[in-house]
Amino acid sequence: MSRRTLSPERPVENVPVPETQEEALRLERPSLRDWTDLRLGWWGFVRKNLDEPMPPGVGWWQTLGNLLLTLLLFQFVTGFALAMYYAPSPSSAYHSVKHLTETVPLGSFVRGLHMWGSGAIVVTVVLHILRVFYWGSYKKPRELTWVFGVLIFNVVLGFSFTGYLLPWDQKAYWATVVGTRIAATVPFVGPDLLRLIRGGEEVGALTLTRFYAIHVMLLPASLVVLTGLHLYLVRRLHIAGPVLPQKGKPVPFFPVQLFRDAIVVLVGLGIVVYLALAFPPAIEAMADPAGTDFTPRPEWYFLGLYELLKIVPQGYEVLATVVIPGLISLGMLFLPWLDRSPSRHPAMRASIILAGTFVSLTIGLMTLKGVIETPPPHHPPAAKAEAPTPDGTP
Ligand code: HEM
Repeated sequence: MSRRTLSPERPVENVPVPETQEEALRLERPSLRDWTDLRLGWWGFVRKNLDEPMPPGVGWWQTLGNLLLTLLLFQFVTGFALAMYYAPSPSSAYHSVKHLTETVPLGSFVRGLHMWGSGAIVVTVVLHILRVFYWGSYKKPRELTWVFGVLIFNVVLGFSFTGYLLPWDQKAYWATVVGTRIAATVPFVGPDLLRLIRGGEEVGALTLTRFYAIHVMLLPASLVVLTGLHLYLVRRLHIAGPVLPQKGKPVPFFPVQLFRDAIVVLVGLGIVVYLALAFPPAIEAMADPAGTDFTPRPEWYFLGLYELLKIVPQGYEVLATVVIPGLISLGMLFLPWLDRSPSRHPAMRASIILAGTFVSLTIGLMTLKGVIETPPPHHPPAAKAEAPTPDGTP
């Protein structure tokens, strides 16, 4: 039986006019599904999305966006579960996380899902950006889809940076001491910015409160708004086909592309679940602001930045902390206007492709170097990591 979606928008004054006897019966005695459809237009919305046209040549690379969406939803769920046990103050944060990890049933697993989920999001978001970059999909008319994407990327990094402090163990504390110090190298306003972020001269109770508020309120709200705008534009402008248009007609999203998405989502979630079970999250000794023999170990995706910091000559730290990351961020944000060639073919935009590949490879290799050279937990290092101390504070 073919079921037309009942739409209250068609007829005058939002009262649907039945076209067949079957429809008249459905309007008179609607099933729960029809009743909700009439009120919410839900099935029409679902139908529209399932029918979304996919140009020929769209395939596995276009599954990364929906994988990201699913991983983000999971992050909200596991984050909410963690927040039910977490107490954001220096005297209780550490103990609440330790209690959750060691005593609460499934606590360690949920914490592991949240921790490995955040890593998976960073990997997926980078792959998604690279796919869009090499396909030239940021070009007209999708400039704003890209710009909202770049903002989302920064929000994702913000989540990692603020979340890292929350367990309030040695690793969390010292990574944040070094990480926030970067703010102090900003010309003119550096020291004030550092105080604003830390809520004082040193990393302490106010830093934890601020990071927690940003992590659970500001960033989630920004992410929801930005992702909503991003997805709205993806649907409005439709997905770009391959660089060289392929023969054939567009096919609906359902069933082929949805099937690919489902497989990638299942594999992605499977990997996160496996990692959470096989490598449960650790908690180190409680943060000790007086201790000086701890080597800061930031989250792996910030290690490239730390490597950069190590190679710039003393006195020029601002290059590694502000100038180079700032130029890369601005370059990303304005990419659609920097690359004005109408063609999406890589050969027709060789300079942009070369520049993007050079930057990506450099960041990748420096991150790898950082991962290899960073001492594992519980092994006291030979020397402490160098980091700028413009104001002489920890
Ligand atoms: C919360 C994170 C994100 C989500 C949930 C998301 C979701 C999606 C989805 C579902 C698509 C369509 C399918 C696909 O191409 O994979 C898409 C396309 C796109 N995304 Fe994202 N995305 C995110 C982050 C980003 C970032 C960080 C960028 C760039 C910096 C970006 C730029 C784009 C562009 C330009 C398109 C259009 C691609 C085309 O038409 O071929 N997205 N995104």
